[in-house]
Amino acid sequence: MSEKLWGGRFTQVAAEWVDEFGASINFDQAMAAEDIEGSLAHVKMLKKQAIIPAEDADTIMQGLTALAQELAENKLTFTVANEDIHMNIEALLTAKIGPVAGKLHTARSRNDQVATDFHLWLKHRLPLVLAAIDDLQGTLLTLGKKHVKTIMPGYTHLQHAQPISYAHYLLAYFEMLQRDYDRFEFNQRHTDMLPLGAAALAGTTFPIDREDVAATLGFTEIYHNSLDAVSDRDFAVEFLSNAAMLMMHISRLAEEVILWTSYEFNYLSLSDDFATGSSIMPQKKNADFAELSRGKTGQVYGALMSLLTTMKALPLAYNKDMQEDKAQVFAVTDTILAVLKIFTQMLAEATVNTEKMHKSVLNDFSNATELADYLAKKGLPFRQAHAVVGELVLAGIRNKQALQAMSLAQLQAHCPLIEQDVYAVLDPEVAVATRTSLGGTAFRNITQELERAEKIKNEH
Ligand code: ARG
Repeated sequence: MSEKLWGGRFTQVAAEWVDEFGASINFDQAMAAEDIEGSLAHVKMLKKQAIIPAEDADTIMQGLTALAQELAENKLTFTVANEDIHMNIEALLTAKIGPVAGKLHTARSRNDQVATDFHLWLKHRLPLVLAAIDDLQGTLLTLGKKHVKTIMPGYTHLQHAQPISYAHYLLAYFEMLQRDYDRFEFNQRHTDMLPLGAAALAGTTFPIDREDVAATLGFTEIYHNSLDAVSDRDFAVEFLSNAAMLMMHISRLAEEVILWTSYEFNYLSLSDDFATGSSIMPQKKNADFAELSRGKTGQVYGALMSLLTTMKALPLAYNKDMQEDKAQVFAVTDTILAVLKIFTQMLAEATVNTEKMHKSVLNDFSNATELADYLAKKGLPFRQAHAVVGELVLAGIRNKQALQAMSLAQLQAHCPLIEQDVYAVLDPEVAVATRTSLGGTAFRNITQELERAEKIKNEH
């Protein structure tokens, strides 16, 4: 018999390096608190159901509580020989209270135990992710309120398209983050489910009370199929998928921070806290943290692909392949919490160069659509209006003259429908103010949208 907890039918002892390959303790010790919490709920139920004697259950509970205390004080030592967090905790419990510790594993398997720990772990972290998204939304809202009247070029194809309010731009990210928020919130539903009681795969002959365990651990739902309970990792895949989408959004924002802090754009300047210098070029101030966040998107996408691929074609129920699930989720959780925190503060501390933003829309023909709309409103079919304005733009580029700098005679030479009132329309301020269609950039819309966003945030 080998020394292992499962060693009964084994006659040989594996080499240390083989144990090392199979072990997960290096990363699953992150679930130590959840493992103890799960065991405490389980033994409490075993006692209530008289599945083990009350005094044994009490001894086990005392032992587990002491271990929880030692864990909080960083006093527990785990070993690769004990493979994973479940067997490490059980070994430590045995060392503390003796062979009675062995009764803890009655009506339980490591398969439903690991699933329970993992569910608990994520259930505890999802609120942190939601709070971090909410914080970033808060920064966007605060900035948005300050910048309703800040006009900047809106881009398509990274070319000046039409003038917009900077607040409108910020609110676009608020919306994306709100969808992320909703997705992580929904993710709670599939995480907030108790697998424990499924035992290895088929349930148990002991008269367990899963409702009691769920209530103790604060789970709202219970898995209703024991095979599914031990083999489901959808909640983790969903989490990684949500994280991938979140990072896709963050990477777009990061890209704009990087571009906008460049000499050419100069729309934003970062506080010293969120920039780094160069070891050779004394003038440099690099947007390293935005770049690194953009870069970490790779890790998060990779984690999603990794877990999806691990789970692909796995026969029911538990397979050791699934041990690969946790490291990905743990690392991604750290990443997204850090990145959200960075952006929350980095954006709050950045200086917005409103003057440069505004100047960028003065002579850039981004009011060309205004002129085409103006002519269309005077009855010219929009396609013709588009062609007329196209010619005017071409003339303007040749003569280095903005549309609003052209004389009425010059404008009328291209289209007699143009009158003195055109100049008001060509003002970027008016261009923004008059885009009042639902969801448009008009100042009036933004003021309402800021209120709506505030309400959404208050419902978090
Ligand atoms: N360390 C394992 C994991 O993370 C725990 C479950 C092991 N169960 C088993 N029958 N080998 O998945």
